[in-house]
Amino acid sequence: MIILGFESSCDETGVAAVCTERGLLAHALHSQIAMHREYGGVVPELASRDHIRRVLPLTTEVLQKANLSFDDIGAVAYTAGPGLAGALLVGASVAQSFAWARGLPAIAIHHLEGHLLSPLLASPRPQFPFIALLVSGGHTQLMRVNAVGDYELLGETLDDAAGEAFDKTAKLLGLDYPGGPELSRLAQTGNSAGYDLPRPKLHSHDLDFSFSGLKTAVLTRLRQLEREPGGLTPQQRADLAAATEAAIVDVLAAKAIKALKQTGLSRLVVAGGVGANRRLREKLSQALAARHGQVFFPPLDLCTDNGAMIAFAGALRVKAGLVDLSDTGHAFTVKP
Ligand code: KG4
Ligand code: ZN
Repeated sequence: MIILGFESSCDETGVAAVCTERGLLAHALHSQIAMHREYGGVVPELASRDHIRRVLPLTTEVLQKANLSFDDIGAVAYTAGPGLAGALLVGASVAQSFAWARGLPAIAIHHLEGHLLSPLLASPRPQFPFIALLVSGGHTQLMRVNAVGDYELLGETLDDAAGEAFDKTAKLLGLDYPGGPELSRLAQTGNSAGYDLPRPKLHSHDLDFSFSGLKTAVLTRLRQLEREPGGLTPQQRADLAAATEAAIVDVLAAKAIKALKQTGLSRLVVAGGVGANRRLREKLSQALAARHGQVFFPPLDLCTDNGAMIAFAGALRVKAGLVDLSDTGHAFTVKP
């Protein structure tokens, strides 16, 4: 069966076609980053309007790329939340309308489930059960994943998400939105040992995270440096970026390893936008190699929001028998 998937929870419009047997057939993506950059963050109203402009052309693009017609589609999947209400409504409305017009089932997908299962799009593919470290702009969670649809929350952030910590500290350093990749780029020219920043909850026994203190520590350091004669130098700025990235990555890696130890599992899957971070990838690859475990990442281009992960989650739910395919009467599901 071929599933057409729609993602529109934030600032990326994504559409994809995934076959339950053959995997990803095609996907198309439009990022609104350039549009939101001048405002320093996502403007919800602009996001919704742009999703409306993009979603149908992207759908046509996917059908053309995969050489599909409407008749080939067996079900529709869409991001039902969490996300920006107006943005979610666009993808959900298009998906539900398409399903209604064609008499197809529409599968409501939790955005985080899309991220969580996206490493299964890569090869080699992790076997269940595994620990998932879910690190996006809005969430930081550790989950035990037993099977498709069987998830156990082990720990999560008590305040800011990891991506949010990257974005907010990047903003303090005067970097463009989205700050994660920008801060990471600047960090490459800096010395991570240049500043000693806190690693909140690093040694706590639980599997929770806290990143808001880090942001305050960076701000305090920054103000000190700016008050010094000559102000903040470019090297100090790069060192601060490197120290921030190291602090975030150290905590994420330590808690992920702790989750593996506590559950006795050996496979770790990393998903969400921060999963694109080079330092995190290197650190976890080394740590898992040392433990004779395995770490899996989604393909780099599918770390941040995209339609492929939503269509794919829909396909996996169909394969697992979790979707009532006879249900083509659509209750509208959107949970901001
Ligand atoms: O998963 P995602 O695309 O959207 C949400 O569902 O939130 O994640 C976006 C987040 C942003 O906070 C962004 O700064 C961060 O992922 N991010 C990165 C990198 N690429 C994206 N953070 C650190 N290093 C990166 N290379
Ligand atoms: Zn996301």
